[in-house]
Amino acid sequence: MSTPALLDQLDIEGIDFAFDHIPDLHATLADLRSRKPYAIVPFAGVRAVLLLTHDLVRAAFTDEQTFPASAVYRMTTEPVLGHTLQCMTGREHRIARGVVAPSLRRNRIAEYLEPLLEPLAHELIDRFESRGHADLVAEFCVKYPVLVISRMLGLPVDDEAVVHRWAHDLFYFPLDPAAAVRASQEFTDYVAPILAARRADPGDDMISLLVTESSEGEYLTDEQVMAHLRLLFPAGADTTMLALGNILSALLTHPEQLAAVQADPATEIGWAIWEGLRWEPPVGLLPRACPEAVEWNGLSIPALTPMIFSINAAHRDPAVYERPDDFDITRRSMSMLSFGQGVHSCAGNWLAMAELETALRILLQRLPGLRLKPDAATHATIVAQVGTALRGPGALHVSW
Ligand code: HEM
Repeated sequence: MSTPALLDQLDIEGIDFAFDHIPDLHATLADLRSRKPYAIVPFAGVRAVLLLTHDLVRAAFTDEQTFPASAVYRMTTEPVLGHTLQCMTGREHRIARGVVAPSLRRNRIAEYLEPLLEPLAHELIDRFESRGHADLVAEFCVKYPVLVISRMLGLPVDDEAVVHRWAHDLFYFPLDPAAAVRASQEFTDYVAPILAARRADPGDDMISLLVTESSEGEYLTDEQVMAHLRLLFPAGADTTMLALGNILSALLTHPEQLAAVQADPATEIGWAIWEGLRWEPPVGLLPRACPEAVEWNGLSIPALTPMIFSINAAHRDPAVYERPDDFDITRRSMSMLSFGQGVHSCAGNWLAMAELETALRILLQRLPGLRLKPDAATHATIVAQVGTALRGPGALHVSW
């Protein structure tokens, strides 16, 4: 009798891990993980290997040889965003990353981005503070990270509404590919003259940094800069929007922990952010692929197998976290898998942390007594956004 092949038997049926909103996703993942460290699941009509433990997810992220990011991003995002960092491997990736990394490094953020972050948070809150109530998702979380990117690129403030529309259409690519391709083209046409002007006369914005910086003696071409700028919206704005929504949702539904953060923001905000990123990482399930047949951690993975790195299951692995389902800001642990690991790990993690810290600090300062509206608790529920992978609340109706 021959041994069954890895993909022969599904571990769960009736749920598609690419598209479905799974209301009890964490319980489903915990159930699968209690049986095996991985599961074979339906994914976009085929079978995928879903990695469920902290050990396996971390090992997979750091094994670019076996699970190269490019194998999946060349099919999914390259047709819309172009040949971004995520589609590159080896030397090409090292050089491009070497050029873009300095513009997002901690010290650079302090120097040229922090002066943008606080005034922008105040500007958005000014629009609704006197009303005494708001939907924080629609009126703050959705707007803040897109505007941060728009301003760090030095785009004209008058154009922000159209930039926001392009960012929105790029994010909803899986649901409306035609609109995303159109947005990508319109954004490119819009940025081309700005890029030419910054090459001729660089300033202190991010586009100028990207055209003047080199790595190993090489500079980025116009198309490489453009692809990176397009990537910044889905990779930088939407992730941060969902992270902020998830952290706010966690705090608003755990009022005693919100009170602890309000009482000592200098100490507690950072830990609330890390715990929010652990409890509900915005990128919950990250699709990859395994191009070549391989023996990996006891699994015989056939060539071209779709893989899913379940960051959200890893973050609730009882082997690593006690009471993993509890949101608890006193844990004092940093959930680094939120930002991936290895060569393709998040290039913007310092910016994300700076944005989240500033936004939370100023929201709590300006809106004392912040609470969910009594009839709105269900709106704080975290749901799938654009497929199963990304998660955040659809609305946060609050008063103060
Ligand atoms: C809380 C917010 C954020 C989260 C949770 C997050 C998460 C991630 C994750 C998981 C990856 C790895 C993807 C993979 O391995 O396939 C990644 C990559 C990336 N992120 Fe973020 N990100 C956030 C914010 C940002 C921001 C603010 C920026 C920049 C403005 C950014 C820029 C990037 C870039 C450029 C990459 C690709 C890196 C490469 O392939 O070398 N991210 N991010």
